[in-house]
Amino acid sequence: MGIYIEESKQLFHLYNEQISYIFKVLANGQLGQLYFGKRVPEKVDYDYLIENYYRPSSAYVFEKEYNFSLEHLRQEYPSYGTSDFRAPAFEIIQENGSRISHFTYESYISYRGKQPLTGLPATYVEEEEEADSLEIRLIDTLTNISLTLSYTIFRDYPIITRNARFENKGNQNCQLTKAMSLSLDLPDANYEWVQFSGAWSRERHMKMHKLSQGIQAIGSTRGASGHMHNPFVMLKRPETTEFLGEVLGFSFVYSGNFIAQAEVDTYDVTRFTMGIHPQNFSWLLAPNTQFQTPEVVLAYSDQGMNGLSQSYHQLYRQRLARGYWRDKERPILLNNWEATYFDFDEARLLKIAKNAKAAGVELFVLDDGWFSTRCSETSGLGDWWANEQRLPNGIQGLSQKIENLGLKFGLWVELEMVNKDSELYRKHPDWLIQTPNRHASHGRNQYVLDFSRAEVVEAIYQMIAKILQESKVSYIKWDMNRNITECFSEAYPASQQGEIFHRYILGVYSLYERLIQHFPKILFESCASGGGRFDPGMLYYAPQAWTSDNTDAVERLKIQYGTSYVYPLSSMGAHISITPNHQVNRKTSLKFRGDVAFFGVFGYELDLACLSAEELVQVKEQIQFVKKYRSIFQKGTFYRLQSPFTHNTCAWMVVSEDKKQAIVGEYRVLNEVNAPYKRVYLQGLQPQWHYQVMEESGKSIGSFYGSELQQIGLITSDAASGQAMGNQVLPTDFWSNVYLLQAEE
Ligand code: DGJ
Repeated sequence: MGIYIEESKQLFHLYNEQISYIFKVLANGQLGQLYFGKRVPEKVDYDYLIENYYRPSSAYVFEKEYNFSLEHLRQEYPSYGTSDFRAPAFEIIQENGSRISHFTYESYISYRGKQPLTGLPATYVEEEEEADSLEIRLIDTLTNISLTLSYTIFRDYPIITRNARFENKGNQNCQLTKAMSLSLDLPDANYEWVQFSGAWSRERHMKMHKLSQGIQAIGSTRGASGHMHNPFVMLKRPETTEFLGEVLGFSFVYSGNFIAQAEVDTYDVTRFTMGIHPQNFSWLLAPNTQFQTPEVVLAYSDQGMNGLSQSYHQLYRQRLARGYWRDKERPILLNNWEATYFDFDEARLLKIAKNAKAAGVELFVLDDGWFSTRCSETSGLGDWWANEQRLPNGIQGLSQKIENLGLKFGLWVELEMVNKDSELYRKHPDWLIQTPNRHASHGRNQYVLDFSRAEVVEAIYQMIAKILQESKVSYIKWDMNRNITECFSEAYPASQQGEIFHRYILGVYSLYERLIQHFPKILFESCASGGGRFDPGMLYYAPQAWTSDNTDAVERLKIQYGTSYVYPLSSMGAHISITPNHQVNRKTSLKFRGDVAFFGVFGYELDLACLSAEELVQVKEQIQFVKKYRSIFQKGTFYRLQSPFTHNTCAWMVVSEDKKQAIVGEYRVLNEVNAPYKRVYLQGLQPQWHYQVMEESGKSIGSFYGSELQQIGLITSDAASGQAMGNQVLPTDFWSNVYLLQAEE
């Protein structure tokens, strides 16, 4: 790993054993992008990659010269209107109304390690040797605004992070109206764009289309990353598969409004940009102030999409997630939401918890409805003290009783919100995000607190910190159930209203940071009506997230499969709920639900008293199974084997770090009659080792070489492939098998 700098050519080459990223200063002082991809040699001169050709009907930078047009050059952080007409990386409106900027190279610094981003989530290193960083300083001499582009290359991952910082050292007030975290010009457009989109309860479904001339984009303008589009895009070669071929990944470490866009120009150059969505954004860049963009994590794989995902998994699990719980085995929880909704009291909760304990559950989570007057969606949010009718002993008393049962206690909160029917609102009606003299829309009868104001965040902190100090809370589920409308803050002048969306999310981050600093042993799980804010920004504060409100195991196949393209299993809350399922009214077996939920952070979302004696035995077995293997699920290497987006059968597997153990999950959605023979081609094993293959029960299927299981496959045909004979168990719809692999000495 290193940064090769050729001063004579003003060339910068970041490299590690896997990738290279090269750019240089162009003839007009701006930065030109030369290469990003698989490792190439450090060379003094890559000037041949600069396309200086005459093209009719273009604008040119230098007088009497027809070769240098920014429209035809691949750039590093382009501006608009100085011969480039494509989407720029940034825009600054100056006091005279001009939007033209010209940032030229001034200097660089490079150093071992990686600097944190103040107030923002970001990947990090533990030892300086893990990464090299480069900061390029550019200046617009007319306005005296400086621009710092920061790059970090990790030693062990084919990954580069980028961000940009603007600093006004001049004397005029400027408005920054666009500030991307990354812009990357790629030399061709032979890519398929892959996004992970959906809606509430069908988050992160994989969607793909070929790039073509023009602009294609996804994003959010709702104040949260959202259910609709995840802030992650892959550009893959058409021939790239899960295991072979080139693919680039762009992942945004941010939880608010975002845009991810590809513009393919007339000459098939692809400009990819990612950052805070410019709609509703502006930032007053007053003299002596600065603006820092969040971070984009750019990854490369020539080993297909699985290769790319595995790099993200490792980095995000170990160098984005933080704290006490980062590497710890996560507790098996039972959450009361689908068991009771708002209908509970202390006695009912204790009964549920007691049964959970008897089955082997480790953490009982009390969801919505425990505070103030909260007995429905219409009241109580903002008043973070226990409802005395329901919980006469408060959270303090309840949490102690839960601990006495031998369980840890967890609590649901939704700290960013307020109901109008609450003491907080009656006292501070001006603390909402709302536009003066305009109607304020509600979502779920609630309103968004103005977290751009420090005093609002402070008041919420004080309320929740009191409970956490007094009670035995080991886990917090931090929910967020509506998006921002009528965005405006009474605390800021007109010239700063474009800052509110971003300032809001900075306020959320500041509260998270304060809570995790003061209560470092609490395990945080983020949530936003399920997976509506499942993004890398949240992962920095909460190492796990509630993947979706949809707990149906069939639906979860797609949701968990899609989520796995960038997020590790250790981040995906996956719970078994009651059947028929509350979202889709589907009946599936407890085994099928368990086999899906194993591949995530496992838990239950039901009252175990509703299960039969036989099912309770099964629950105990599931819990024992998870306790035995959870470190492999959470830390192993995950492989997607067969996609539920294209097949009736879904398969995936996880392999322990030492490759001695592996667990395979195979799921058939609908039963088939007289089906073709089936085998699943495994991955990640040691080809020359022998593996004992067992069913979930431990019953042996046989012993095979790793190479056999990978090349010939694990035979998974069952009675669906022919008529069942004798007492063979007949498969049916929603059928699954989990296989255990153990390397033999
Ligand atoms: C939405 C969450 O996703 C659910 O799990 C639950 O916590 C409800 N909110 C409670 O209101």
